[in-house]
Amino acid sequence: MGFFDSGVGGLSVLLAARRLLPREDMLYFADSAHCPYGGRSRDFVRGRALAISRFLLRRRAKAIVVACNSASEAALEFLRQAFPGLEIVGIEPAVKVAQRLSRNRRIGVLGTALTLGGRRFSRLLENFSAGLEVYTQPVAGLVEAIEAGRAGDESTREVIRRSLRPLLEKGIDTLVLGCTHYPLVHGAIAGECGPGVAVIDTGEPVARQLQRRLKAAGLLRPGQRRGRLDCFTSGPLRDVAPVVRAIMADPDLPVARARV
Ligand code: DGL
Repeated sequence: MGFFDSGVGGLSVLLAARRLLPREDMLYFADSAHCPYGGRSRDFVRGRALAISRFLLRRRAKAIVVACNSASEAALEFLRQAFPGLEIVGIEPAVKVAQRLSRNRRIGVLGTALTLGGRRFSRLLENFSAGLEVYTQPVAGLVEAIEAGRAGDESTREVIRRSLRPLLEKGIDTLVLGCTHYPLVHGAIAGECGPGVAVIDTGEPVARQLQRRLKAAGLLRPGQRRGRLDCFTSGPLRDVAPVVRAIMADPDLPVARARV
C-alpha cells in the first residue's frame, strides 16, 4: 500500500500501520519539494495528490493512505472519484475522540490553515462538537522545523510553547493533533501541555481502519515474511533521507528521489 504526505509527517501514520500490519509491503512518498501543503490552494494539493497516487499505483500499491490532514481535506473525495474501486483511506482531526474524552468540554485542535479552514473540518464540528468549546490553532513553523530535522531543538520547543499558549489559557483539557507532523513531537507537545491535558494522535485509529478495509476487501497479505518499506521523495535526497531514516530509526532504509 502507498502512503503520502507533504513531507515526513505521514511517517507518524506509517509507523502505526507498520506496527499493526508488519507483513504488508509499504511505499511512502514525501512530497518534500512542495512542502508545506498547509498554505497551498486546494487545486494545487489535488494536483499533487493525483500525480503521487498515480506514481504509487504504478509501483503496485494496492491501497492509498492519504497520511496528511491537509491533503485529505483538499483531495480525498477527488481521489475517490479519480480511482473508483480503489481503497483510499484519509485522515481527519480526531474531534470525535476528543468529544468522548473531554471532561471540562474545552478542546484544542492544532492543524494547518488548509485543514482548519476546510469543509471536512466544519462538517466534523457540526456533527461532533455539540456542547464543546473548540479552539483551533495553526502552529507556524513547526512543519518546517520537523522537515529540517530540528524536531528536538530548543527553538522548536519555543515554537510549540508559543502556539500552545492561547489554547492553554482557554483551559482546554484535551488537545487534538490535527496534522500528521505533530505526533513526531508528541513528547514535546505533551510536556508543554502538562499532565492535565490529554494529547490525541490519529495514527493508530487510521491504521486500524486501514486494517479493517483491507480485510473486508480480502487484500491482507498472507505469510509470515516481514513487509518491505520503500521511501521516495520529490525533494533533495541529501536533506530528506537522513530525516526519514532518523524518524524510522533505520539507517539502512531505502530512500530514493522521484521526479513526480
Ligand atoms: N502533515 C500535514 C497534515 O497532516 C501537512 C503539513 C503541511 O504540509 O502543511 O496536514
